[in-house]
Amino acid sequence: MELDIKKIKDQALKEIEGIKNSEEWEQIKNKYFSRKSGELAKLLKDLKDVSEDLRPKVGALANQVKTEIESALDIKLSSLKNNGSALERDFIDVTLNVEKYKLGHLHPVTQIAMELEDIFKSMGFMILDGPELESDYYNFEALNIPTWHPARDTQDTFYIDAKDKLLLRTHTSPVQVRAMQKYGAPLRCVVPGRVFRNEATDASHEHTFYQLEGLMIDKDISITNLIAVMKELLSGIFKEEVNVRLRPGYFPFVEPAFELDIQCLICGGKGCPVCKQSGWVELMPCGLVHPSVLKYGGIDPKKYSGFAFGLGLTRLVMMKYKIDDIRLLQGGDLRFLNQF
Ligand code: PHE
Repeated sequence: MELDIKKIKDQALKEIEGIKNSEEWEQIKNKYFSRKSGELAKLLKDLKDVSEDLRPKVGALANQVKTEIESALDIKLSSLKNNGSALERDFIDVTLNVEKYKLGHLHPVTQIAMELEDIFKSMGFMILDGPELESDYYNFEALNIPTWHPARDTQDTFYIDAKDKLLLRTHTSPVQVRAMQKYGAPLRCVVPGRVFRNEATDASHEHTFYQLEGLMIDKDISITNLIAVMKELLSGIFKEEVNVRLRPGYFPFVEPAFELDIQCLICGGKGCPVCKQSGWVELMPCGLVHPSVLKYGGIDPKKYSGFAFGLGLTRLVMMKYKIDDIRLLQGGDLRFLNQF
């Protein structure tokens, strides 16, 4: 019996030594450890035929051999894992069920901003950025809106620091003078960005929304250039026919000033809360840059002229996707946002 045990041990260790892959390892393991037919199971069964005085000794030997074979198998398994083919080492079970990743996507306002950036890049415009926490100087003063000017009433905002005169910018127009000072003329740029107003919110007003400022300065720029760029822009964005109208407007930093309206795409011009029952939506105030603003930017108004516009990005998204409440866009409700 003792001899048998030693034989099994020698044979097992030899076989384990020769194992080349995980299937062979599995086979050998079963050969010795299978509960019913394994060599060690058989051995333990035979143990009951051994005479009682020898049984403890033979039993102990059998246990010791079992442990030795087990640890030889363990060692072999880890060396197989380390030296095995890359395929075996990095095995991934592709049939396993995994939870599906939920990928996010860009906010509809960002999507439209990027589309617009492409359109303007193709016309040679730079894409610029400006601070959301802006000085009173760039937001108002340099745009021809001194402290006493009534135009300030239409753009009330959140004043952050009275001493340094810092506020949340009410429009992207402050980047006009910043860009002129930095790049001089000629200049073509658009500025997409977030703006803020102290508003009582309703279906068409929010305290936070997005605009895209446009500025083109060169020699002999006139309203004709302005209209040409507007047309290119609108046909690029609405892939459907839209009715537009241009009417006189007022902004202290452009002269003459216009309001470009589009017929409301939500009600088709019949009248709804978004167009305040008028059938038209203000989309793009615009005009020729006021000579004083060019001067603030360090550009000689006798040599250069330009146009500027302020496109309401949030409004544009509402028109494009026929969204009837502006508050949905900043609300962060995924049931709404997942539709885009
Ligand atoms: N900044 C103006 C606004 O937010 C819009 C505007 C921009 C008007 C450029 C004219 C020229 O109301």
